[in-house]
Amino acid sequence: MTKLLIIYHSQSGNTEAMAKAVHEGALSSGATASLKKAAEATSDDILNCDTVIFGTPNYFSYMAGMMKDFFDRIWRTARYKIDNKPYATFSSAGSKDKQTLDSVDRVCRSLRLKKAFEGVIVVGKPSPEMLEECQELGRKMAQL
Ligand SMILES: Cc1cc2nc3c(=O)[nH]c(=O)nc-3n(C[C@H](O)[C@H](O)[C@H](O)COP(=O)(O)O)c2cc1C
Repeated sequence: MTKLLIIYHSQSGNTEAMAKAVHEGALSSGATASLKKAAEATSDDILNCDTVIFGTPNYFSYMAGMMKDFFDRIWRTARYKIDNKPYATFSSAGSKDKQTLDSVDRVCRSLRLKKAFEGVIVVGKPSPEMLEECQELGRKMAQL
C-alpha cells in the first residue's frame, strides 16, 4: 500500500482546501495518506513516505516562506536518501502564474526527487471542479 504524504502551507485556507482534496483522492485509492503542515514537517516525514506532494500559496511568485523553511531544514539530512522518490505539487494563487511551482521544482531537482505529474494551480477559492482536479492528483499519486 502506497504511503503518501502531503506537505502544505496555507494562511487563508485556499491551499489547505486543495490539500484536503488531494488527501481525499489518495485515501479513495486505498493509499495510506497523511497531511502535514510545512512548519511541522521534518526529515523523517519525507524519508518515511513513498510519494510526496507539496502544496504552497503563491507568495511574490515564489513558494511560501514556510515551505522554503521546510526544504532548508531537511536538505542536509534528507539529501541522497530520497533520490527518485516521486513528487507532485499544487498551488493556490491570485493569478495563474507558474513561477511558484517552478521554484518548488527547482528545489526538488536539487533533492533528486522525481516529478510524477504536472502541478495543479488554482486561482482564488477552489471551485468544486478544481477540488475534483486536486482529488484526481491524489488518486494518481496513490496509484504509482
Ligand atoms: C504575502 C502574499 C504575497 C502574495 N503574492 C502573490 C503573487 O505574487 N502572485 C499571486 O498570484 N498571488 C499572490 N498572493 C495571493 C495568494 O497566493 C492567494 O491569496 C492564495 O490563495 C493564498 O493561499 P492560502 O489561502 O492558502 O493562504 C499573495 C498573498 C500573500 C499573503
